[in-house]
Amino acid sequence: MATATSTEGKRGLSRRNFLRLAWWGAAGVLLLEGLGGTLVSLWPRVKEGGFGGKIKVGRVDDYTVGSITYFTDARFYLSRVDDGFLALYRKCPHLGCVVPWRATERSEDKLASNGRFNCPCHGSIYDRYGRVTGGPAPRPMDLFPIKIEGGELIVDTGTVVQRPAYDKSQAVKA
Ligand code: FES
Repeated sequence: MATATSTEGKRGLSRRNFLRLAWWGAAGVLLLEGLGGTLVSLWPRVKEGGFGGKIKVGRVDDYTVGSITYFTDARFYLSRVDDGFLALYRKCPHLGCVVPWRATERSEDKLASNGRFNCPCHGSIYDRYGRVTGGPAPRPMDLFPIKIEGGELIVDTGTVVQRPAYDKSQAVKA
């Protein structure tokens, strides 16, 4: 009898130990998953060539005066105006909508007969310099700084520059 009791006791303990181990194992897995998720969400997403970093967009000669080139992933338009280059942030300074370029709309500047920015949210309109020509926007489209190194254009999408009005000094000369 004593032996049977002892065996049952051992079996019971073994099951209890197994359940305890399984519980701690599951808790450990959940904890690791939580930590992993937190680390991934905190890891900086800014990388060379992506939005938030420095983007190489080609050479000066690739662009003509009056041209607008959209860099979708980098979230800006490269505008070549008579004074130089502007990298216009696509986020509307009014309430933050994405501002599309409308190549077939009447131009708001003298660089071409067609093309302007029309914000679909509340109707703000901008020209190739990012200047407000209509609607409720409180200031011109924001800029990203541009550097020209050896004829190559590099746009820093990590720095947003607000401006109260357009000034020639904002355009980076070729
Ligand atoms: S968000 Fe562009 S006009 Fe309001």
